[in-house]
Amino acid sequence: MKIFLDTADATKIRECAKTGLVDGITTNPTLIAKAGRKQEEAIKEICSIVKGPVSVEGVGEKAEEMVRDGKEFAAWSKNVVVKVPMTKEGMVAVKRLREEGVKTNVTLIFSAAQALLAAKAGADYVSPFVGRLDDMGEDGMALIEGILDIYSNYEFETEVIVASVRHPMHVVEAAEMGAHCATVPPEVFEKLFLHKMTEDGIKRFMDDWKKVQK
Ligand code: E4P
Repeated sequence: MKIFLDTADATKIRECAKTGLVDGITTNPTLIAKAGRKQEEAIKEICSIVKGPVSVEGVGEKAEEMVRDGKEFAAWSKNVVVKVPMTKEGMVAVKRLREEGVKTNVTLIFSAAQALLAAKAGADYVSPFVGRLDDMGEDGMALIEGILDIYSNYEFETEVIVASVRHPMHVVEAAEMGAHCATVPPEVFEKLFLHKMTEDGIKRFMDDWKKVQK
């Protein structure tokens, strides 16, 4: 399963990317605002750090605006994937961007029906938001299972990015289900490395080693 970082913070991306385990990046207008950067400058820097796909989102509501912005984003780097919201206008934009050779990631997916339509429109990726569904008392990971079943029934090539990840178990369950990618905040990425028994085990080995060095 590919692991993307869900952030526009270049410092954190650089730090996490040192592990060699970061396959791509997803951003959105909130994350760009949080990074306090101009979008173009931030995305170009991120594309210089990470080799894989970097999702970039605009705020246009009409298909024409999404296509215009998407083409502009795609010209920044070959890594760029254009995020398009799950609306009727968005699906028109996905088809047009595909014809122009621009990759798309349909975002704000909250139902299997939406994921089906996005795949039919020709999206390269869909981003179902599991954490936001969980927050509403729904089962985010059940949605992932449903989407993966549908995509496998029809051999869609659209990849599922498990998004709005809140904790390591979202990542583990995504991998168990065979999701193509999970996009995780840097804090969750750091937690994936940790286990109390690993820390205790390292400490015990160090202590025992020191005893025989005296
Ligand atoms: C990813 O593509 C989304 O923008 C992101 O995962 C949303 O996460 P949030 O629900 O924590 O804002």
